[in-house]
Amino acid sequence: MKDRIFMSSPDVGQLEEDAVVAAMRSGWIAPLGPDVDAFERELAARVGVGHAVALSSGTAALHLGLLTLGVGPGDVVLTSTMTFAATANAIVYTGAEPFFIDALPRTGNMSPALLRQALTLLREAGQSIACVLPVDLLGKAVDYTGILAIAGEFGVPVLADAAESLGATHMGRAAGSFGQASIVSFNGNKIMTTSGGGMLLTDDETFAHHVRYLATQARQPVLHYEHTDIGYNYRMSNLLAALGRAQLSRLDEMIERRRALRDEYKDLFAEVEGVEVFGADDDRYDNAWLTSIVVDEAKAGWAPRQLAEKLALANIESRPLWKPMHLQPVFAGARGLITGASERLFKTALTLPSGSALTSDQHERVVRTISGFLGVN
Ligand SMILES: Cc1ncc(COP(=O)(O)O)c(C=O)c1O
Repeated sequence: MKDRIFMSSPDVGQLEEDAVVAAMRSGWIAPLGPDVDAFERELAARVGVGHAVALSSGTAALHLGLLTLGVGPGDVVLTSTMTFAATANAIVYTGAEPFFIDALPRTGNMSPALLRQALTLLREAGQSIACVLPVDLLGKAVDYTGILAIAGEFGVPVLADAAESLGATHMGRAAGSFGQASIVSFNGNKIMTTSGGGMLLTDDETFAHHVRYLATQARQPVLHYEHTDIGYNYRMSNLLAALGRAQLSRLDEMIERRRALRDEYKDLFAEVEGVEVFGADDDRYDNAWLTSIVVDEAKAGWAPRQLAEKLALANIESRPLWKPMHLQPVFAGARGLITGASERLFKTALTLPSGSALTSDQHERVVRTISGFLGVN
């Protein structure tokens, strides 16, 4: 059996290895240390925000972002139904209720029109609307112009889930710089990784300070251990921050590689009836984290599941888009405004190997397998 080809495996090499070894030799093994401070400064500068707090995961960043906004039991948080469970889980951690908003069919991102409708309905019903939490799906920034204007009209803060979109832009501004705060993830499958980790980004110094406080067990600034709030152990370790700094220095190069892979998929499917590369009509500003195709089964004569089976036989990983949150058993009964757009994407899209660590040989193998499949269909 040939080596397995993953959708998005970590892209690390000598530079990263040297950085981690140097951090270890420096003696800063514990959470916190000079690499954490430098990583925060460097990422804040890259995204163009005033403050960054390095944390143990993107999920931790979401959790603390919501807590810092004061979200809690009795509150409603409006979020994208088309996302990874971490977004909705973090809302539940606070005791608030997630309210799911359906997507724009072309991008899978939160529909501003539906957001307005939901805010209007919930406001009329006298609900406590604590936050809007949009998600930049697969590395394409949400229509922040629309979302921020609407949330602003209703006086509701925005926490942006940019876990997948580091390096993307909206109207010339970096993903991760929108709303009261944004979060990014450095999970192993993301555009850059610290193996596990995340960061909260904000222009608001008080916000960043509170997140840092909660992330370090909410310790009061006194010598003995004094606590007036429940805290968390959510800080990033110095070793992982060293890895993150090395990855950040290669971010543009890694994005370029993912874009090149997407371009090759565009060429491959250009003449294929009933298949479109997802979001490709407007992909100049996204980071091309993952490339998916959307298949119109009636026109193509085959279903995405069939291509996935063929790829699996060749030991190549592929996967449907996120199963929308309103379809998840754990969120059965959750409220939302659902049009069917996310569900259609879930049924018709397939995500293909997209990682920057993919070698030319591996990508050729993917292309050959897909071409073989298309040839017999
Ligand atoms: C949209 C989205 N939000 C949040 C997360 C959570 O990030 P982490 O895995 O770093 O906790 C992820 C990815 O894992 C994600 O894709």
